[in-house]
Amino acid sequence: MKGILLAGGAGTRLHPITRATSKQLLPVYDKPLVYYPLSVLMLAGIRDVMVVTTPQDQDAFRRLLGDGRDVGLRLSFTVQPRPEGIAQALVLARPWLAGSPCTLVLGDNLFYGHGLPALLRRAAAQPSGATVFAYAVRDPERYGVVELGPDGRAVAIEEKPKAPRSRWAVTGLYVYDGDAPAIAAGLAPSARGELEITDVNRAYLRRGDLRVERLGRGFAWLDTGTPESLLQAAQFVQTLEERTGAKIACLEEIAWEQGWLGADDVRRAADAMGRSPYADYLRRLAEGEARR
Ligand code: TTP
Repeated sequence: MKGILLAGGAGTRLHPITRATSKQLLPVYDKPLVYYPLSVLMLAGIRDVMVVTTPQDQDAFRRLLGDGRDVGLRLSFTVQPRPEGIAQALVLARPWLAGSPCTLVLGDNLFYGHGLPALLRRAAAQPSGATVFAYAVRDPERYGVVELGPDGRAVAIEEKPKAPRSRWAVTGLYVYDGDAPAIAAGLAPSARGELEITDVNRAYLRRGDLRVERLGRGFAWLDTGTPESLLQAAQFVQTLEERTGAKIACLEEIAWEQGWLGADDVRRAADAMGRSPYADYLRRLAEGEARR
């Protein structure tokens, strides 16, 4: 299983904040936004990740993440010349995927909740088809919306419907078999000129090969595309981190727990970061104090 992290886009709803920088590099409390979706891929056990960026932001992502080695990953980078849709990432990553199944995550989505890694591993273990993760929201019309039948299977899926047929939004986390890039490559752009991920999911639905995992109320799914939601995400992270003393989406910690890094690697990462609270947390971790 390989991972795709989609970190391009125009971020127009955050202008002027995103006029000169990528949305996914903005802070969510104590770390860049991109750490949160990247941590989800890592928790799923994925080490090979393709990061898709705009042409102008790729260097900044490389400065932040390097080749991934410091957090136990093998990162590749590719450029999306224009924001022509989420599904275009599958087309761009096609040669790199070389037929492998993939987990695609949107670079501005934050997931938090007990049991997410197990859900992802279960989806990854399916021999074929696609799995999407649905979350009940107050404003489903802003998202892809899935209608579920009495047996919990998907009946229909629509992009930003004016009259949503359910409250189940499709979140920015998708697990696909090796067919997804070919499906995406065969799509026509939508009325807004994008290759729509909803169309990829609908193709799997038509084949009878789309599974929907519902993320219940014990999960948090936040997106960060607007000033309000970006601030709310930061407050959420601050609240939980201050209460528990544990960090959400600390990449070195996850890599350590996965057995990809040793205590020396964590200490080195801390030293490279100086005296920030994040670096201090890594130091405590390496000394065996944090969370233990
Ligand atoms: P969106 O929030 O739909 O788009 P955006 O980030 O460009 O923001 P805005 O609507 O304010 O202009 O994108 C969801 C995620 O997918 C986000 O992390 C950016 C990423 N993305 C791409 O990388 N390429 C794309 O072509 C699109 C549409 C989104």
